[in-house]
Order: sequence, then structure tokens, then C-alpha cells
Amino acid sequence: MPIFTVTQEDGVAVITMDLPGEPVNKLNAAAKAEFEDVFAALRDDQAVKAVLFISAKPDTFIAGADIEEFTQVKSREEAEALSRGGQEMLSRVADFPKPVVAAINGACLGGGLEFALACHYRVATDDPKTQLGLPEIQLGLLPGAGGCQRLPRLIGLRAALDIILQGKSVPGKKAFRLGMVDELVPSSILRRTALAAAHRLVRNSRVERAPRTGFAGLLLDRNPLGRRIVYGQATKQVKRKTGGHYPAPLAALDCVRTGLERGMAAGLVVEHREFGRLAVTDVSRKLVQIFFATTALKKDDGVPPGTGSAHDINLVGVLGSGFMGSGIAGTAVTRAQVEVRMKDTDLDRVTKGVEAAKSQLDRRLARRRMTKYQHYRTVALLSGTTDLSGFRRADLIIEAVFEDLEVKRQVLAEVESVVGPDSVLATNTSTIPIGHIAAQATRPERVIGMHFFSPVEKMPLLEVIPAEASDADTIVTAVKFGRRLGKTVIVVADRPGFWVNRILSPYMNEAGYLVAEGAPIDTVDRVMTRFGFPVGPLALLDEVGIDVADKASSVMYEAYGERLKPAPVVSALIRDDRLGRKNGRGIYRYEKGKKKGPDPAVYRLLGVRPVEEVSPETIEQRLLYAMLNEAAMAVGEGVVRSPRDGDIGAIFGIGFPPFRGGPLRLIDSLGAARVVDTLRGLEGAFGARFSPAEVLVERAGNGLKYYPD
Ligand code: 3HC
Ligand code: NAI
Repeated sequence: MPIFTVTQEDGVAVITMDLPGEPVNKLNAAAKAEFEDVFAALRDDQAVKAVLFISAKPDTFIAGADIEEFTQVKSREEAEALSRGGQEMLSRVADFPKPVVAAINGACLGGGLEFALACHYRVATDDPKTQLGLPEIQLGLLPGAGGCQRLPRLIGLRAALDIILQGKSVPGKKAFRLGMVDELVPSSILRRTALAAAHRLVRNSRVERAPRTGFAGLLLDRNPLGRRIVYGQATKQVKRKTGGHYPAPLAALDCVRTGLERGMAAGLVVEHREFGRLAVTDVSRKLVQIFFATTALKKDDGVPPGTGSAHDINLVGVLGSGFMGSGIAGTAVTRAQVEVRMKDTDLDRVTKGVEAAKSQLDRRLARRRMTKYQHYRTVALLSGTTDLSGFRRADLIIEAVFEDLEVKRQVLAEVESVVGPDSVLATNTSTIPIGHIAAQATRPERVIGMHFFSPVEKMPLLEVIPAEASDADTIVTAVKFGRRLGKTVIVVADRPGFWVNRILSPYMNEAGYLVAEGAPIDTVDRVMTRFGFPVGPLALLDEVGIDVADKASSVMYEAYGERLKPAPVVSALIRDDRLGRKNGRGIYRYEKGKKKGPDPAVYRLLGVRPVEEVSPETIEQRLLYAMLNEAAMAVGEGVVRSPRDGDIGAIFGIGFPPFRGGPLRLIDSLGAARVVDTLRGLEGAFGARFSPAEVLVERAGNGLKYYPD
């Protein structure tokens, strides 16, 4: 079956792309070969005056080069040749003697956008599915088919860097505002508008594009001195953001700079060389693995295929309109566009909760991520109550009341007596076993855990925790609704701490031990941010709330014994009424809500003398290996269904450095034997909590890996 079909309409050749048997169009080897043939034939066809390129896929224009092909690449030279080939192909489009118009609906990403940029005119739709962007940086690569050259020339240096260096995508409307596309239309008239444009270009091939960058653009984008300032600022920003761990953004910046300062030909050479270098780095390999893991999770409903089906969710009841309840409510109305009814114990709390949920929408409006009309309509989906009025129709209840078993059981019993038999009852508990909450339910098969992370609006992960009695429909309903909220969902076992808090506990606890020995607080945090975590463990403690950590750590101690015996820090802080950022008193000092340096009073509370220095290697080893050991143990107990889920949970739940691939990939990279040896060394120095997990010792003995590659 052909990938491209060509029809002729009044001298315009319409090329329709439809990669057979694939959900999206991508530029794989077969597509590229056929593409070249099609364009060569049209060049020679005297009857053809212009070309219109459109996709037959409902949600994609072209999703980019075929990422799968990069995983097969063995050498830098091979990757370089791939990029050079793409550049040459698109240069032939840019130099095509007849006008080429791209009609864009759906995802137009990576190589797909690079192709559109090589066309002479672009029409895009305002459909929400239409996204134009260059996500290569997120794969540890750079736009390697001329994107680093053509985008800055079209929309200006600063706007192009904003997209290239962050691997961003923008909706059609923004693309039009930036000048990336020439026309923006509803999808119903895309083809007609693009055809009209092709005819116009036949009559007059010049496209007048007014520079859209204004006075600042004149000063910064179109002036070599100004551009030097922009390069300098961008370099600083990239270095700060990547901590030197991700080579791609600086390489992309170099390609853009070379192209603008020394001409397109020179820019293209740096572009394919750098693409080749990056494609075979370990960082890129890890990021590509994460892309495929998250893609696979989008299709994984947490039960064997065909064993459960999701209930429709039109109304969600949220019990408890506090910090988490309001976050969940705001995210549900925004992302899933469902009605949300919130309940709390008194009117004052409900009102505050509804207001807090609404503030999420206000922020989106302020950032122009939602129109006034969408804001108005979305706010109307939110309502509150102090009784269970309106809950009868709820298809899904999410409970986020106090972390107290009796309170949770009681609210569950109340709500069960009101809702229909098919309603799913989810609890957002962070520490109580779901089975305990479900134990007295009349329909335990409908009860499940949905563990959100704070802030709900921003955190990309959701843990779904079936209890023993939860049935398949309940699991699938929770997983699919989580995905409607935009979350990456992993299904984990009902064991204390589930997955994320289980592996986080020993890591945080070890940071506590270090402080209790007098280690410098900021050094501990700095070592781990240098390792690649977004925040250090002690700053995280303040963010999470020391009271919350106190409760969680005692649950973990009770469940897992001496290995997770809490370090004395948390209880000492609690005794001094330190709850972290929320009351402006924690392990760090706060002034008017702003975090300042570490609070030296913490050492006095602990009765220790601050130590001047602890070696960064020791800090990193103690924290990291405590986590790796626990992760291996939890995987051995079946807490996650696969190493893939474990790694994605760690990356999306606690910001485990993506370029390291996750704790289980890291164990594979280090080798189980080396991990066991290091743990034995730590055990000798710091005690039995570092005893290597039996499963890890076995793996070391058998040379087993979590992943086959
Ligand atoms: N290469 C290979 N496979 C791709 C792909 C790509 N560029 N884009 C999507 N796919 C595959 C997915 O792996 C998935 O495969 P499966 O069905 O076998 O599991 C299938 O297409 C459907 O994808 P999703 O489940 O993700 O579908 P969604 O509708 O949720 O999302 C999408 C569609 C927005 C296009 C999303 O898939 C996406 O973001 N794709 C990646 C885009 C990207 O990173 N492009 C840049 C590639 S690098 C490049 O172009 C280099 C160039 O500069 C030289
Ligand atoms: P919160 O104290 O901010 O909110 C709890 C709300 O529940 C309060 O508004 C309270 O009035 C209300 N409430 C208590 N009893 C009620 C009842 N019988 N009916 C209706 N409402 C009632 O607490 P937060 O932080 O929102 O936590 C809620 C749940 O989410 C807890 O189970 C917690 O473990 C869990 N969780 C918390 C996270 C966090 O970071 N705070 C992260 C993940 C889960």
C-alpha cells in the first residue's frame, strides 16, 4: 500500500500522507524513499503548477522522524547520515520550483514541523489536537533536518530558542501568532483554504511576511550584537536548568548560532554533526526509553486486556475540599471537563475549597492557556455542599479527607448509602492500606486507591492501588480517568508506601541521619540536585510538610521495621512546632514566605555540633543506595508490575533524574554485583539498614538484569 497518494485538482497536486497500519504518520525509511519519488515525479510533471501536502490521519500531520529507527542506529556516523539525508530531502522541498503548501491538522512535530518549515506556505487548524513543535530536546536530540536553521529565520531568534531549547509544542493559534504558520482556520475548511493558497501562489509566488518581533526584535533578533546577548543569556539559562547533565540544548544553541552568524550551509553541517553525536549518547538512549515506556503506559489499563471495562464518568464527587481535594477538583474540571461536586464539613471550608479549585482555572486564564469563555464554562462545572446532596449521580467519588482510618471508613459508609451500585469509590490516602479502608464497605469491589501527588495540577503521576477485592472494571475506570486528567498512571500493590513513598522513605530518612550527625544541610541538598534531582531531600521535607513526613515515616517503620527506623530529625522538628514551608518554620528559614538558608537552630534541637564537611561521595552513596536497595526489594515483592512502571513512577513521582533512566535502569547500568558491594560497604560503616536485599544478591549472583537491553 502506498504511503502517499496524489490527486490533481486544477493544476495543484494534492499529496495525502497515510502511513498504512500506523496510528500516526512518521518519516521512516520507507516514507522518505517514497516521498523523494513523489516529489521527483511532480517536479517533472508539466501539468502540476503547485503542490498541496495534507495528512489523512485524524490527529496527526506528521509526528516526526521515526524514533524507533534511532534506537537501531549503531554509530555516530550512521546517525549523522540519517540527519544529513533528512536535511537534503527537505532542502529539495525548500528549493522545489513550484510552490508547496502544507495543510496542518493534528500533531506536527519534530521532522514533521521541519518539513512544514521547508514548505513555502503553511495553513494550520485551530483544533486543540493541532500542536506544532520541536520535541527533539526531550529525546536528548536536536532538530536535525534543518529545524535549527529555518525556525529562527521564520519567527526570530528568541521565539525559536524558546521552542527548540525546551522541546516545546504550541497550539495552532499560538503558532499563527508567532508567524510559524501563515493562516489559521477551522478544520472544516483546511483543505479548501490550503488549495486557495496554492492557486494564489501559482499566480504570485512571493509571500509577504511582516516581521513580528517589534522593537525588541529589531534590537535583539536582527542585530548581531543583540543576538550575542541572547546567546549569552540562553547559555546561562540552559546551564542552570540542565546542571550539565543534558548535552542537547547547548548543541542546539550552537547550531542556531552557527546558522545565523555564518550562514545556513555552515549551520546545517553543525546540525547533522551534533545530531550524530547526540543520537548515540547514553542520555538520549535513556530519554527515548522513557518516551516508549510512557507511550506503552497510555495503553495499559492495569488489567489483562479484555478483562475489564471503564464506566462513563460525567460527575465526580470529591470528599474533603482541603489541599488535595481542591487540587483534584480543579484538575478534574480542567482536564476531563466533568462536573465536580465537593463536600466538606462546613460551609466555610467548602467555599475555600471551591475557591482554591477555581484559582487553578484563574491561573490558566492568566497564562492564556484557556479563553474567557472556556474559563466561564469550566468554573460552572464546580459546586460545593456540606451534605451529600448531588452525590447520587456521581460516577466516581474521590475521598481526600483527613488521614485517619475511622474518618475515612465513616465517610465511605455515608457515601455508599447514597451513590448508585456502579459508582467507583476512590481514596487518596497516602499511608493507609486500601484494604483496611475497604474492609467494612458494602461493595468492596468498587473501592480503590487513587494516590495523587501534590500539587495535583502539576505532578504528572498517579498511582492506582487496587485492594484485594477491587474488581477489573473498578481498576480500568480509575486508570482511564487518571489518564483523562493528563496523568501517567501506574498500577501498584496495596503495600505500605505503595511504590513512590516506599522508595522515597529510606532516601529521606538517610538525609535525616546525615543531619543528625551534623552534616551541612545545604551540602546534602546540593549533592542530590547535582546528581539530578529537582530539589534536595531536606528542602523536599519542608515542602511536603514535616507533620506529613512524621506520620508517613512512623507507618513505614511499623510496616518494615528497623530498616526504616525514623532518624531523630523529624520528631525533633515537630517538637519545636516546625511544620516546614506551610508554617514558615522548618529545616530552612523562611522570610515572608521566601526560603532562606538552612536554620542552624536545627543542630541545637538535635544536640549535635555541625560538621564542617562530609564528602559528597558519601552523601550521594548513602542516599542513593538506600533508595536503590528499597526499590529492588519492592520490585521483588511485586509492588510494581514491571521495572518499566517502577522507573516511570520514580521519574514522574519524585523527579528521579530522567537521564539516569530510573532506579532500576541505574541498577542495571551499575551492575547488581557492584550495587551489592557498595551496600555491603555502607552496611559495615553505617549499620544493618544497608544490608543488601536478598533479591539483589541473587541478581548479582545470576548476573540478571531488569531490562533485556
Ligand atoms: N516515531 C516513532 N513512533 C512514534 C512517533 C515517532 N515520532 N510518534 C508516535 N509514535 C508511535 C507511538 O510510539 C505509538 O506507538 P504504538 O501504538 O506502537 O505504541 C503510536 O505512535 C501512537 O502514539 P501515542 O500513543 O503517543 O498517541 P497520542 O495520540 O497520545 O500522541 C503524538 C501522538 C503527540 C504524536 C505522540 O506520539 C508524540 O509526542 N510523539 C513523538 C513526537 C516526537 O518526539 N517527534 C520528534 C521525533 S525526533 C525527530 O523528528 C528528529 C528530526 O529532527 C530529525
Ligand atoms: P487537608 O487537611 O488539607 O484536607 C482535608 C479536608 O477534609 C479538610 O478540609 C477537612 O475539613 C475535610 N474533612 C474532614 N472530615 C471530613 C468529612 N467527614 N467529610 C468531608 N470532609 C471532611 O488534607 P490534605 O493534605 O488535602 O490530605 C487529604 C488526604 O490526601 C489525606 O488522606 C492525605 O494523606 C492525602 N494526601 C495528601 C498529600 C499531601 O501532599 N498533602 C499527598 C497525597 C495524598
